[in-house]
Amino acid sequence: MSRGVIRWIGGPVLKARSPDPFRVHEAVTVGPRRLLGEVVRLEGDELTVQVFEETTGLRPGDAVEGSGTPLAARLGPHLLGGVFDGLLRSLEDNQADFLQTGGWPRRPRRYPFIPLVQEGQPLSGGQSFGEATTDPHAVRPHLCLAPPGVSGEVESIAEAGEYDDAEPLCRLRDRQGRIHDLAMSHFWPVRTPRPAAERLPIGPPMITGQRILDCLFPIARGGKTAVPGGFGTGKTVLLETVAKWCNADVIIYVGCGERGNEMSGVLDEFPHLEDPRTGRRLMERTVVIANTSNMPVAAREASIYTGVTVAEYFRDQGLHVALMADSTSRWAEALREVSGRLGELPGEGGYPAYLSTRLAEFYERAALVRTLGGGEGSVTLIGAVSPPSSDFSEPVTIHTKRYVRNFWALDKKRAQARFFPAIDPLLSYSEDAADLAPWWHRQGNTRWAEQRKRFLTLLEEQSKIERMARILGQDALPPKQRLTLLAASLVNEAFLRQSAFAPKDRYATPERQNRMMTLLERFFSLSEGALRAGVEVEAMAALPALRRLMRMGEEIGEEELPLFDALERELEEAFHALAPMGTLEEPT
Ligand SMILES: Nc1ncnc2c1ncn2[C@@H]1O[C@H](COP(=O)(O)OP(=O)(O)OP(=O)(O)O)[C@@H](O)[C@H]1O
Ligand SMILES: [Mg+2]
Repeated sequence: MSRGVIRWIGGPVLKARSPDPFRVHEAVTVGPRRLLGEVVRLEGDELTVQVFEETTGLRPGDAVEGSGTPLAARLGPHLLGGVFDGLLRSLEDNQADFLQTGGWPRRPRRYPFIPLVQEGQPLSGGQSFGEATTDPHAVRPHLCLAPPGVSGEVESIAEAGEYDDAEPLCRLRDRQGRIHDLAMSHFWPVRTPRPAAERLPIGPPMITGQRILDCLFPIARGGKTAVPGGFGTGKTVLLETVAKWCNADVIIYVGCGERGNEMSGVLDEFPHLEDPRTGRRLMERTVVIANTSNMPVAAREASIYTGVTVAEYFRDQGLHVALMADSTSRWAEALREVSGRLGELPGEGGYPAYLSTRLAEFYERAALVRTLGGGEGSVTLIGAVSPPSSDFSEPVTIHTKRYVRNFWALDKKRAQARFFPAIDPLLSYSEDAADLAPWWHRQGNTRWAEQRKRFLTLLEEQSKIERMARILGQDALPPKQRLTLLAASLVNEAFLRQSAFAPKDRYATPERQNRMMTLLERFFSLSEGALRAGVEVEAMAALPALRRLMRMGEEIGEEELPLFDALERELEEAFHALAPMGTLEEPT
């Protein structure tokens, strides 16, 4: 192994000299406590290392030892249900799982194993050779995968039984005659995307149960979204709500908290959340990666790659995975701090010039794929951004925008008015939406794309008219514009507003979302008819049926869908009472 000697230490960064060869991104251990680090730069015989642990106590003259491999994480059946740090070390039992080198203790974990291959059979990377049962209630057993890049013929395979997750269970002989011993878990370098057989085009949406997302700014499975929002605008609640309700099989929650109390909130809450689908704990299909405030910045920098590597690992098992990173701004601050220590030339906002590339490397790993094992899996990425003073033109937001397809911008004004989710419908967008209409057709709503466009147009018009009204006064607006304002306020209040804490409304199935959209569309056409018939907008606004429409989200639950029909009849009768018979329908 290569060895070097420390010359200089500056916080999380150190410089060392070595006559031996090291490689960039090689994992190293440092000093007598064998702290974990990574080579970030090589110049002649000088190497620069970022250290993922507190460097207090290290001295010039201490040793740096190479591991010969890049920074890698152990992936295996122990992950689900666990809380880890940015280096995938368990925060519950302080055990290390990141690197085979060094004196890291590893808690032995045993799982029942069932072989899925036989001797003499070919096996290649990404295919499974067995199943491990981690939790008797799990939706599916854990697949024990051959690591990508390894292939050969099965020379021996363990019998069914209980084994340690690091114990060799399957022996492969490759074409060159080399032997590979495979265990339930394997290491993978976190900065290298795990390969897939094929990237698939956009398929179905990832349903979140949040109307403003699913109907106006939907995200596809394998999609990527940024959630920028100033202080207290609801980023964390939104990410947790999506984690809780979305139809992903596995949730990876990466908390990059700057303030310790923020992170401990997640750590306190997450393990207790109930999984609405199973009634059990959501944690059972979740992996939490947390950077507590006492963790050095370099580990925070690594954490989002660790997170996405874990996500890809479950994707490779043929599962749909959603990763939430809260917040990528704190991650970028870690990048900035390490870069400063390295003496690099700062770019915009003090961030290093490679901020953009690093963001790209993260978001590019979102995908719907055909896995090496032949299944279909996906990684959907949702990254919160916390721009200082809600300024969306700052570098992290700007560069993130280049790599995501969807943008859920949180609005301070909405949040202050306690309008949640406080997503600004005018600044937000979804590039996935265009490809998702066929899915909604198959759910029975052939008008989804038109309805969506109608809602967005109304909200757009509302903002223009409101601007005009501020100059001219409300009374000066012609009836048609006053009706637009009424319709837009219905879209906002009856449809987009959805409290994460309202028992009947915190989740909406696609079917209920369709019913609500269609009912609002019915209101639009009735009210336009009434306007043509000369009915005053104020008379329409005063209809009791309209107030019921406003509250339909909180009042009509999933088991009460026929009440939407009743409400539609009530609305029709109310309008017919206002306008003479036969005048409400579209003139032909
Ligand atoms: N969807 C929602 N439904 C109801 N209330 C909400 C919702 N979203 C946010 N809130 C309210 O707003 C508060 C702040 O939300 P949250 O902590 O998610 O903001 P944040 O953007 O993550 O803040 P920070 O910048 O501090 O991280 C919550 O405590 C809650 O009261
Ligand atoms: Mg937050």
